[in-house]
Amino acid sequence: MFDLKLGILRTLHEEHVAMLGVLERLEALLAANRPNTPPDTSRAETASLLADVATALGGDVTHHYEFEETHLFPRFTEFADPGIPNMLRQEHEIIRPLAGRLNALIREAKDSGFSAEAWAEFHATAAEAVEREIFHIQKEEMGFLPALDQILEEDEDGPLQMAYVEIKGG
Ligand SMILES: [Fe+2]
Ligand SMILES: [Fe+2]
Repeated sequence: MFDLKLGILRTLHEEHVAMLGVLERLEALLAANRPNTPPDTSRAETASLLADVATALGGDVTHHYEFEETHLFPRFTEFADPGIPNMLRQEHEIIRPLAGRLNALIREAKDSGFSAEAWAEFHATAAEAVEREIFHIQKEEMGFLPALDQILEEDEDGPLQMAYVEIKGG
């Protein structure tokens, strides 16, 4: 693993790692419960996984994406190349509604579990979201964050960290 000198980029990296952990658990749930057999959401392990997925794909994705789009993609475009930020932004735009739909289905399942129809939709949507988000994170980890670590000045670290705190609080 590379060493990032800017704390804000290490924060994003840690969020990627945490997200991959949740996605891995979600993939295991999908593998264990085929599209036509909804899981028992009253099981504590399943309920807590769905709660973690809702958090990861709700506020976490919203804030993380917004910060990248507002503060990092413009810098990268200015100092390097617009192609990569444009591609990453398009991926955000595809993943965001998938995440929103999964969260809505999790909310609906909260009291009495997934209907057969809802689970089939959740299964298909989650499989797509997991695949796209993993690929997205891999791209950011391999090219985007290391390049930004070269592009950004160290004295930008503090203001960027504060800007991120503001996005998360607001
Ligand atoms: Fe991103
Ligand atoms: Fe990211």
